[in-house]
Amino acid sequence: MRKIGILTGGGDAPGLNAVIRGVVEVCAKNDIQVFGLKAGWRGAIRGEGRWLTLDDVDGIQMVGGTILNSSRTNVMKEENGPENVRASMEKLGLEGIVAIGGDDTLGVADKLTKMGMPMVGVPKTIDNDLSCTDFTFGFDTASNITMDCLERLHTTAKSHMRIMVVEIMGRHTGWIAYQAGLAGNAHMVLVPEFPKTVDEIVSVIDRRTKAGKEYTVIAVAEGFTLEGMNDSDLPRDSFGNVDMTKKAIGETLARVLEERTGQESRHVVLGHVQRGGAPSAFDRVLGLRLGIKAGQLVVEKDYGNMVALKGTDIVKADLSKAVSERKEVAKDLYEAIELLCNK
Ligand code: F6P
Repeated sequence: MRKIGILTGGGDAPGLNAVIRGVVEVCAKNDIQVFGLKAGWRGAIRGEGRWLTLDDVDGIQMVGGTILNSSRTNVMKEENGPENVRASMEKLGLEGIVAIGGDDTLGVADKLTKMGMPMVGVPKTIDNDLSCTDFTFGFDTASNITMDCLERLHTTAKSHMRIMVVEIMGRHTGWIAYQAGLAGNAHMVLVPEFPKTVDEIVSVIDRRTKAGKEYTVIAVAEGFTLEGMNDSDLPRDSFGNVDMTKKAIGETLARVLEERTGQESRHVVLGHVQRGGAPSAFDRVLGLRLGIKAGQLVVEKDYGNMVALKGTDIVKADLSKAVSERKEVAKDLYEAIELLCNK
């Protein structure tokens, strides 16, 4: 009987379980057994996990997180990492692995593919920063949660006539801040792709104050940088990613704005709330469809690729290309921010 592995790596994203279900269903139909590797690449290195049955995946598209657990283990940084993955695959009899993850997890999948270990990649991240796919699952849910929070923060900011700075996940891109900021009517949306100076931010608040608007809600992406800020001393994970919570842009910006404007300011870090809980309908269905396509590629032994959303279609995409380019908020999209916010 044919056998494959499946793993989820990096930060969890709502919709992961939907992908797992899609893969397991297609594989079961084609007499392929699926081994769920525990906690991302760590499970692949150690050969840890369990065989998945149809009962294990029944209805799991409704559930957030990942039934397989996740970690940020980087195979390339572990002693004999690739050799141990190969040994686990041989021991378990796995012909290939479906790796569900963001640029870090898929970057490893790409390298292992080139070392002769067959992989299929499935793009995942709430940050939506992977290229070669229109959207990543998790982004829609995270944007909806963030939109709800922004909406709630309006009433308290207005009651207290405050500046409310809301720090939003997204690492080096501002996709969630963009989507939730527009939908949740933030007065300013600050994203790393389009830097602004403190003077420019203050001038927007001053204009609002002169117009009789007594409060301001600012959606700031965690990767946004003020002049003079430097990431180089911040702690990093095994993939070299900065711990954005230590950067603390929300806290810094709120303090600077209170000093500059004299208006009482508060900051809120939404943090992991943005990734928690049940996926949206969009992410459930996107996850299921990506999983089904990944399962089909396995059936056809069409390894070395990624699955992706293009328009309304689920297609096969170039794994190497996807992990080598970051998808950023483009100028034409950002124009909506300049028209409706930041003024
Ligand atoms: O990449 C997804 C993400 O949620 C980022 O938006 C965030 O910066 C990071 O993961 C947080 O990582 P961790 O879960 O390791 O704290």
